[in-house]
Amino acid sequence: MTTKATWQWDESVAINKDFGDRSVVAAYDEAHRRFRDVDGENAAILARLNLPPEAVVGDFGCGTGAFARLAARRCQTVYAVDMSAAMLDFVQWKAQEEGLANVVCRQGGFLTYVHDGPPFDAIHSSLALHHLPDFWKQKALDRLAGWLKPGGKFHLMDVVFQTENVDVNVEAWIADTAAKGGAEVGDSIRGHVAREFSTYAWIMAGLLERAGFRIDSADSQGGILANYWCTKA
Ligand SMILES: C[S@@+](CC[C@H](N)C(=O)[O-])C[C@H]1O[C@@H](n2cnc3c(N)ncnc32)[C@H](O)[C@@H]1O
Repeated sequence: MTTKATWQWDESVAINKDFGDRSVVAAYDEAHRRFRDVDGENAAILARLNLPPEAVVGDFGCGTGAFARLAARRCQTVYAVDMSAAMLDFVQWKAQEEGLANVVCRQGGFLTYVHDGPPFDAIHSSLALHHLPDFWKQKALDRLAGWLKPGGKFHLMDVVFQTENVDVNVEAWIADTAAKGGAEVGDSIRGHVAREFSTYAWIMAGLLERAGFRIDSADSQGGILANYWCTKA
């Protein structure tokens, strides 16, 4: 869909936190680092993607750009795409501070971003697609697939629920993140489950396949945090 339909999902409603300025974004970054090994995760993802130096990469829902900035050290160009202007301001500032001139910051959403650069060799998205209801996740995945080269790689990391023991797993996840990150982080995870649009693994697999991705492998930590390693068929 290129022109906005009257029934188009408003992606801005999904941003339920006030990323008003750089200090708020920095605090958000610091909070995530209390319960996630962000740099370790990203280094492992890049090692597995094994991209050549000439690769063009997209990071959708890039947040503070930790993945985009690490990828920019190894690849030709990285497009860091996010709905939030404050997030992108932080990414641009950090990229400049780190001497990275190949991070292209673009404000836009999965459903509204217009890609006018070369096709991507790889796209990565972590903890962002769940902001869309399933109907719109399909449209977002269709769009991502359209911007990838044939044979291009797609890595998705997000909260995706395994059906078995889901209530027990959610409780364990809240307890674990609260223990690592503090009560505020536990509350934000509760809010995620209650109000955001994380879906079931059997639905996510169907959405990916219908978008034209082959799922090369998938894993799940605690029945909650999923990684999908895909190739554009
Ligand atoms: C939980 S953060 C994850 C950031 C980063 N990818 C990470 O793993 O730390 C979710 C990000 O998705 C962005 N976002 C929310 N809805 C979006 C949409 N429809 N399209 C693109 N980005 C979106 C938010 O602004 C936020 O930066």
